[in-house]
Amino acid sequence: MIKYLGSKRTLVPLLANIAAASSAKTALDLFTGTTRVARSFKELGIEVTAVDTASYSEVFAKTWIELDSRSVNQSELTDAIAELNALPAKAGYFTKVFCEDARYFQPQNGERIDAIRDFIEANYSSSWLYHPLLASLLLAADRVDSTTGVQMAYLKQWSRRSASALKLTDPALLPGGGLAIRGDALEVAPALDAVDLAYLDPPYNQHRYFANYHIWETLVRWDAPDSYGIANKRTDVRTPETKSRFNSKPAMPLAMRELMQTVKAETIVLSYNNEAWLNRDELIEMCKARGHVEIMDVDFKRYIGSQIGVYNKSGERVGNPGATRNTEHILIAGDKTRVKKIFAAVKGD
Ligand SMILES: C[S@@+](CC[C@H](N)C(=O)[O-])C[C@H]1O[C@@H](n2cnc3c(N)ncnc32)[C@H](O)[C@@H]1O
Repeated sequence: MIKYLGSKRTLVPLLANIAAASSAKTALDLFTGTTRVARSFKELGIEVTAVDTASYSEVFAKTWIELDSRSVNQSELTDAIAELNALPAKAGYFTKVFCEDARYFQPQNGERIDAIRDFIEANYSSSWLYHPLLASLLLAADRVDSTTGVQMAYLKQWSRRSASALKLTDPALLPGGGLAIRGDALEVAPALDAVDLAYLDPPYNQHRYFANYHIWETLVRWDAPDSYGIANKRTDVRTPETKSRFNSKPAMPLAMRELMQTVKAETIVLSYNNEAWLNRDELIEMCKARGHVEIMDVDFKRYIGSQIGVYNKSGERVGNPGATRNTEHILIAGDKTRVKKIFAAVKGD
């Protein structure tokens, strides 16, 4: 998995237990990010629809949620990955923008990323291998980056991992069916069929994923955009189309209320951080639109970036780490008997 702000790595077992206790056959993950929660649902045999605005999330969801490992020829994937790993390096847009003008990756890895990404586009764009190969490239690039985990800045000194050679590995497809959708949750949700369980994990502050992970957007879109500033962000980071209502303090509560009205699901699970814009009581109140509400407060190890320290745009450390733990509220809302049953099954977790 890529390093990702707000990723639910440590909460996955609890969320999977909630899904299992709900006996859901169908589920929706509306802010799927890395897809790790959607994957854990799929591993339970649940048919999952995974939604996110990010292009790289779509690649992950096409790979791990939509593809059924039983319906593909695994050796084609293994062979293609070996072929990509053996390609000669070839400097292009990625090397120039992200390794020379900025220093997110060492040039020897950037040149291989350029060569591999061009080759995927030229040879696999209409193949079932397209998304798994892109996922494999994203994961490989993430393992050799030189950041604290977000792409607002690169480190002043090369990270140790950036010296390792880029190596694509098998993304390990999962059995079962599912659906991947790239789009705004507020627009997509009303158009979807009803599901048994919907999981909502919206952003919880003004920091936008499109800006924080602009390199992954560019690596997937492969559109060689104009860029600006020391961080060399895509210029469309500034356009309204790439902004989310969930990243705006005044707009977010209304957006959440709208979602609570429009998501077609028997049970809703919402996770939200205690340092965010809506407090515990407001969250409970909002979820009451769906019926009975139970809430769990889970002590959560903070994202690694906040433990390493605060860096400015030149990658210099300008502050010390904040608190290393915070709380994630997990709310379950829906029919009273069902919600109480789920809560009773998992509250000891
Ligand atoms: C807290 S993260 C989700 C993390 C995810 N649960 C995981 O474990 O990887 C929030 C996600 O919401 C996405 N997002 C932001 N605004 C959105 C919107 N309006 N509709 C759909 N997805 C959105 C972001 O791209 C990001 O991936």
